[in-house]
Amino acid sequence: MLEATSGKSGKGCAVLSVAVVGSGPSGVYTAQALLRQSLVPDVRVHVLDRLPTPYGLVRYGVAPDHEKIKSLQNSLRAVLEDDRVAFVGNVGVGGPDGVSPARLAELYHAVVYCVGASADRALAVPGEGLPGSYSATRFVSWYSAHPDVGADPFARDALEARSAVVIGVGNVAVDVARILARGADELRRTDVPPAALGALERSRVRDVHIVGRRGPSQARFTTKELRELGALPGARVLVDPAELALDPAYTAPEEASGAPVLPAVVRRNLEVLRGWSADGGPVGGASCGAGAARRIRLRFFLRPVELLERGGRVAGVRFARTAPDGAGGVLDTGAYEDIEARLVLRAVGYRGVELPGLPFDPVRGTVPHAAGRVLRGGSPSPGEYVAGWIKRGPTGVIGSNRSCAKETVASLLADAPALARRTAADDPLAVLRRWGLRPVEWSGWLSIERAEAELGRSLGRGPVKIPDWSGLLAAARDEDR
Ligand SMILES: Cc1cc2nc3c(=O)[nH]c(=O)nc-3n(C[C@H](O)[C@H](O)[C@H](O)COP(=O)(O)OP(=O)(O)OC[C@H]3O[C@@H](n4cnc5c(N)ncnc54)[C@H](O)[C@@H]3O)c2cc1C
Ligand SMILES: NC(=O)c1ccc[n+]([C@@H]2O[C@H](COP(=O)([O-])OP(=O)(O)OC[C@H]3O[C@@H](n4cnc5c(N)ncnc54)[C@H](OP(=O)(O)O)[C@@H]3O)[C@@H](O)[C@H]2O)c1
Repeated sequence: MLEATSGKSGKGCAVLSVAVVGSGPSGVYTAQALLRQSLVPDVRVHVLDRLPTPYGLVRYGVAPDHEKIKSLQNSLRAVLEDDRVAFVGNVGVGGPDGVSPARLAELYHAVVYCVGASADRALAVPGEGLPGSYSATRFVSWYSAHPDVGADPFARDALEARSAVVIGVGNVAVDVARILARGADELRRTDVPPAALGALERSRVRDVHIVGRRGPSQARFTTKELRELGALPGARVLVDPAELALDPAYTAPEEASGAPVLPAVVRRNLEVLRGWSADGGPVGGASCGAGAARRIRLRFFLRPVELLERGGRVAGVRFARTAPDGAGGVLDTGAYEDIEARLVLRAVGYRGVELPGLPFDPVRGTVPHAAGRVLRGGSPSPGEYVAGWIKRGPTGVIGSNRSCAKETVASLLADAPALARRTAADDPLAVLRRWGLRPVEWSGWLSIERAEAELGRSLGRGPVKIPDWSGLLAAARDEDR
């Protein structure tokens, strides 16, 4: 039996106890929106996470050399340190060792799911499972020290490759290509864990091919991120002018009307790409860009059809040459090109994961919702909400999650009088502990931070991330440190 409390019923509502599941940007912005409203005077928010560490992809996705974006953690931290908010790490929801959505709903007036989209997408081409072929998701998690990565997959032999192919032309593709092409010396000042730093130090990768199946008009990277590739010390970016063909879907109406149709970001990207292409010619040849310590070859109109094998591991990628179809898509031309590579990273997007006990749309990889209200059988489910990537799908920068969270919180507040009539536990943490969970609270996270600072000091570096579950949990429990 739970010790139950309920908010004052009636027109308004005085007390609201909310669980936010997930402490990434959407979870923290949800908590922030709940704190900033004035409709319900007394709001208490527990921000739960399956990890003992907060901040989601800001800690485990944003590239380590993007220190300015990483520092957004400071503004997220201010929310989690508010007296009305508690961080409750090491509590998974929906998993075998966690708490089910149904039981969680007994503890709070409302639950907002902000669990992100953590899985990778597959190419569904032959050879994808060969050793040496990985998702960018796994590579990112590895250099970010995510504790789920397990036995170090890249330190062993993947970075023995001289040539690497990155499939996809989004910002994640640019991130992983940049980390491969950046000297490890520059990463020493970041929080990359020692094993990953050592492997990147020993890396023999000299050529990184970033390959898009469509043209530069449809590339998803942003100009700032693209430009950074050209600023890497010792690296040269090569672009084939023949692959910069614009899509007639844009050029035809532009020619007809004389008015610009190309989106501004595409124009800016093209300017950067054309600048690089002026230096080059065809960029496929091994001798092109000779003299640079590392070469980044940006390729377009190549659709992956097969990963090639030699000696039991990946040896390259076969691409079908494509051309614009005039409507934003591409058609195969019948020609093929093989690019040699002993390391292949597919950066073709993330995917939401079904959380047992919560509705899921397997096609979109999201939780069905109406303005953030979870839909069960097409109708809003009382007390259940979503925000962030699990609501919208895996696109958008950190800031996009703020407006997304605000929309969800607006729905929740509109429902507040009814929500406050539901029962909630006085002390949800005590109940979670009775159910066998071992939450890591804010003091535990601070203890992890101190342990990471200590580890860094012992290595003559700034804070260095602890990459495994046992290390994180041991540090969290050692609050006297
Ligand atoms: C590799 C990469 C780099 C990026 N770099 C940038 C960048 O430089 N700048 C930028 O603006 N945007 C960047 N983005 C985009 C940005 O990270 C996302 O917009 C944002 O993180 C999405 O927020 P979210 O809260 O929905 O998901 P997430 O950040 O993924 O947070 C989800 C949280 O939920 C927790 N969780 C998951 N399942 C459960 C469960 N069952 N129970 C409890 N907790 C759970 C997770 O542990 C995690 O902490 C990047 C994205 C990626 C993939
Ligand atoms: N610095 C930053 O701000 C930063 C850094 C990282 C991530 N992010 C954000 O995080 C979000 C996710 O980024 P993302 O790079 O994972 O996804 P993304 O932007 O959706 O890019 C995915 C890329 O994969 C390609 N692709 C998909 N399926 C493919 C297939 N079967 N074969 C070949 N190519 C395929 C796509 O091409 P098509 O277009 O042809 O489908 C696209 O080029 C984005 O909103 C991004 O901006 C931001």
